[in-house]
Amino acid sequence: MLLKRLLISLVLIGLVQLVYADQSINISSPNNTIQLGLLHRTNGDLVYQVLYKGKTTITPSGLGMKLKSPELSLVKFDLIGIDSSIADETWQPVWGEVSSIRNNYKQLVVKLSDRSGSGIQLQIIFRVFDEGIGFRYSFPQQANLNHFIIADELTQFGVSGDHKAFWIPGDFDTNEYPYYTSNLSSVDATGGGAAQEIHAKTYFDKNAVQTPLMMKSVDGIYINIHEAGLINYPAMNLVLDKSSFTFNTHLVPDAVGNKAYLQTPSVTPWRTIIVSDKAAELLASKMILNLNEPSKVANAPSWVKPQKYVGVWWEMHVGKSSWDYSGGQVGSQQATRVPHGANTANVKRYIDFAAKNGFSSVLVEGWNTGWEDWFGQWKEDVFDFVTPYPDFDVKELQQYAAARGVKIIMHHETSGSVTNYERWMDTAYRFMKQFGYDAVKTGYVGRIIPRGEHHDGQWMVKHYERVAQKTASYNIMVNMHESVRLTGLHRTYPNWLASEAARGNEFNAWSVGNPPDHETILPFTRLMGGPMDYTPGIFKIKMNYYNPGKTEQVHTTLAKQLALYVTMYSPLQMAADLPENYEAKMDAFQFIKDVAADWDDTKILDAEPGDYIITARKAKGSSNWFVGAITDELARNFSTSLSFLDPGKKYIAAIYRDADNAHWKDNPEAYIIEKFLVDSKTNLKLKLAPGGGTAVSLMPATVEEAKHFKKYK
Ligand code: NOJ
Ligand code: CA
Repeated sequence: MLLKRLLISLVLIGLVQLVYADQSINISSPNNTIQLGLLHRTNGDLVYQVLYKGKTTITPSGLGMKLKSPELSLVKFDLIGIDSSIADETWQPVWGEVSSIRNNYKQLVVKLSDRSGSGIQLQIIFRVFDEGIGFRYSFPQQANLNHFIIADELTQFGVSGDHKAFWIPGDFDTNEYPYYTSNLSSVDATGGGAAQEIHAKTYFDKNAVQTPLMMKSVDGIYINIHEAGLINYPAMNLVLDKSSFTFNTHLVPDAVGNKAYLQTPSVTPWRTIIVSDKAAELLASKMILNLNEPSKVANAPSWVKPQKYVGVWWEMHVGKSSWDYSGGQVGSQQATRVPHGANTANVKRYIDFAAKNGFSSVLVEGWNTGWEDWFGQWKEDVFDFVTPYPDFDVKELQQYAAARGVKIIMHHETSGSVTNYERWMDTAYRFMKQFGYDAVKTGYVGRIIPRGEHHDGQWMVKHYERVAQKTASYNIMVNMHESVRLTGLHRTYPNWLASEAARGNEFNAWSVGNPPDHETILPFTRLMGGPMDYTPGIFKIKMNYYNPGKTEQVHTTLAKQLALYVTMYSPLQMAADLPENYEAKMDAFQFIKDVAADWDDTKILDAEPGDYIITARKAKGSSNWFVGAITDELARNFSTSLSFLDPGKKYIAAIYRDADNAHWKDNPEAYIIEKFLVDSKTNLKLKLAPGGGTAVSLMPATVEEAKHFKKYK
């Protein structure tokens, strides 16, 4: 990294030091869009504020730490030094939305010592980017502090008004809530209790919300608060003080109420604030990735593969088959017995389907013993991760899949019994390698064991990192469900392809589901931290197809399910519906077959949280582009320029759109596919139905092909 050390007096515009007055330090981002101001008051307080284009976006907000052992509050400081530097580097992710990422910021290291006489020193490291700031606490090695326990982090985020917010209730265990959209003054997290289908949830404060928190001010400034590089520390919730619109950090506690156990030298995760007056710029931000450490998996490019997969999965969620062998598991969705899904013949059917349609892999859930009584009892020994049910032939399926060039994705549901999983991990990964598996989906449904620990506390955060490291050491890719929300760690561990950690498409199968605006909010919230295994691609929208008594449904049109492959970024994309449902609509399925899972370039063409998103992406190592446009419950029309295409080149646009009378509720499966000749001068007129979407593939046309299609008008 190119780190130019600058003379402090050059960088710190306005370092004012009067004998009796407060001291302020200001630093601007490389292009001056963002300004960070620090104020060190004579009484020892240290506050920061953030300006965007000269407007106060984060009001003067407190910094500090409360320690339990040694017992003291680090809130009054002496300023003992300041270091500054500039970084400007470009790096290539192993996979991603773009092939190359610029990391350009000014850094300020503020060196402090505790004024209360403990002699403890700490630093706060600020990085100021053109799109926002990141800051973290650092505790250097020192005689006065070795082991210590964090009782509370005292970081505040004050905002300048009663912003519109997209939020979910603060919780120590789950992120699977539907989003609430309200002004900050109307935040009421007690409503989170209504989400009954969430199995492990921990309500703690009426005014608590989770990050990534998305806000919009009345004057049109978009603000996102989250964290980056969550390692060896609990996740951050925010508790809103409505009298001042100030958020106070509330870290997830451990079983005895402590927050984090640290030893010097140590750092906290970065606190991130991303700001823009264009919503699309937030979606394009790479700041959180830039704040994470480079890859620690040196050989990752040789074996980590972005991919599309199918799975013996949705058929269990819709109640057609069962995870357990007897077909009547405790607590299952279905009242009557249904066949065991993960049987050899059925898995072969999916392998054939994957091979025929160009999918890399087949996820198989319910293959191992234990599902008869896996859930809800806080039971320690549930699964062993190596014992298949008698109708699942591991060896035969290994050969069958290998002969067809398909991989089976392993499933490790821990049912929250993480002590048990930790005992089995090595054995389970060796078993995987022995039988040709190179990817695993893990899951943490239910309350955590060690009992009293939370999904998002320090103990579990360390567990997820151990899983990422250990799977990497076996050259195994991992996809975690019910894990902590992502904070950009996939830069450091590129084998950690995705997580769920939010309300996935599965909720549409068996609960009130995900409202039509859900997928227009997720990229501004959960996905700010990294890819989500959302499992799009449902073609049979209404669940009464499987059982006339069912009222559940997917809250989108079919065309919108296609568009999600572009708007919802993940290097791991499932074609989640049943093979037979795809076989009935092979023309629409063609888009899922064509769409890429890894990209050289991404353009967010237009976006508004809660309303719509239009994204274009260029497939890795290819000239093909894909566009996805989605809307909330309202019908919307757009005119979308294809100016991102190579000038002068002709492309065949295959447009998968809502039929004119489509509607997510009344007529969700009505779609139309049209093909035209387009170029970089074309403006596509997109017409999205209520809860609808449009998916477009754009492939260069040969002279011969060009003759067969009409020019788009
Ligand atoms: C919840 C996961 O999100 C889902 O994908 C999985 O099928 C079930 N748990 C069972 O492990
Ligand atoms: Ca889940």
